[in-house]
Amino acid sequence: MSCQQHSLKTWNTFSLEACANKISMAESAEALCQFWQQSTDQNEPVLLLGEGSNVLFLDDFSGQVIINRIKSIRVSETTDAWSLHVGAGENWHQLVETSLEQGLSGLENLALIPGCAGSAPIQNIGAYGVELDRVCEYVDIVSLADGVQQRLTAAQCQFGYRDSIFKYQYRDGYAIIAVGLRLAKIWQPVLSYGDLRNLDPLTVTPREVFNAVCQMRRSKLPDPKMTGNAGSFFKNPLVSAEVAAKLQAEYPHIPQYPQINGDVNVKLAAGWLIDQCDLKGFHIGGAAVHAQQALVLINANEATGQDIVNLARSVRQRVAEKFNVWLEPEVRFIAAQGETDAVEVIA
Ligand code: FAD
Ligand code: EPU
Repeated sequence: MSCQQHSLKTWNTFSLEACANKISMAESAEALCQFWQQSTDQNEPVLLLGEGSNVLFLDDFSGQVIINRIKSIRVSETTDAWSLHVGAGENWHQLVETSLEQGLSGLENLALIPGCAGSAPIQNIGAYGVELDRVCEYVDIVSLADGVQQRLTAAQCQFGYRDSIFKYQYRDGYAIIAVGLRLAKIWQPVLSYGDLRNLDPLTVTPREVFNAVCQMRRSKLPDPKMTGNAGSFFKNPLVSAEVAAKLQAEYPHIPQYPQINGDVNVKLAAGWLIDQCDLKGFHIGGAAVHAQQALVLINANEATGQDIVNLARSVRQRVAEKFNVWLEPEVRFIAAQGETDAVEVIA
């Protein structure tokens, strides 16, 4: 089959010109397993995708891409909480909006994050002071080789900052098919981040938080429909308290986020570090550092995957030269045969 027939351009928010041997839509766990089996029988690689908002295609993919479109939202309630059982192929932002319209609050800080509900646990999506693990009760997965389904509790998911067990033990050979969320009926607004601090905790409504989050995001982040990107390209680095103190002595305005839960490390803002290297607007080939948010690399002009890699390598090098801090990509790198180690690629 020719590449043009199976373009991945609309299946990755970087809008990179890559293609696959085959693209299939799976609307059930059984379909996921069937498609996976077809490829395994033919000895070809498989890539699962939701909406492609956190992937970088380095090359054409030499196998089948399976798009997860398992739908359904079931709501039940107990005296103190709403429980949502959400099919992995539901769009995350629509879920946030719909739940808010139905009077269920708790997801508003996570508005406008692209992608599917089923992808949300993988990097424990987070924004504006809230991460998915605050509301996630369980994640249902299927073992693609034998169709056996399993429910993992939130504790078993081992959620961390942009991290979970789905990047390790359950990365290959498993698919997420549903996510269970628990939204407390007594709403506790989280107003600790950015402009949300200006809202009055005594009178604020979930809708106001939702609107403020949407406004902040629209003012900073490029819309992938207009400009190809995958959100933050790098993770915010965690450094020891000692390193953080040294950096603060040299750069008194450096943003630092001490960690909770007994973690002695301090999180730095990768966007600030990149910005301090005067890299906003810096470009290599068709790839550029976004002019409003330096942590976002964009497809400015028909970039290739290699352009983005070259830019990421250069940005990482410049930040290390200035601050002695090595950034790690948040975006997942996909080579012809499947996912590859992103740090190795840009090292
Ligand atoms: P994809 O990119 O399709 O897949 C991501 C990874 O998950 C791939 O490795 C894929 O193989 C795997 N995968 C996909 N579906 C499944 C499945 N069902 N089972 C098993 N594995 C699967 N992230 C944040 O955390 N916070 C933000 O604020 C944020 N802002 C963003 C803003 C923009 C403009 C963009 C483009 C991205 C942003 N992101 C953010 C990143 C992205 O939205 C999230 O990582 C999102 O959860 C990815 O969802 P997706 O469905 O597009 O995943
Ligand atoms: N900053 C700069 N210059 C820049 C960018 C940022 O100085 O070009 C400074 C800001 O002024 C601020 C700090 O860096 O003091 C942090 O910036 P911002 O609030 O924009 O957040 P971020 O750390 O860059 C993280 C997440 C985002 C999430 C926002 C809001 C990561 C890797 N990124 O970005 O998530 O939406 O916080 O909570 O943790 C994503 O994961 O794709 C993503 C967009």
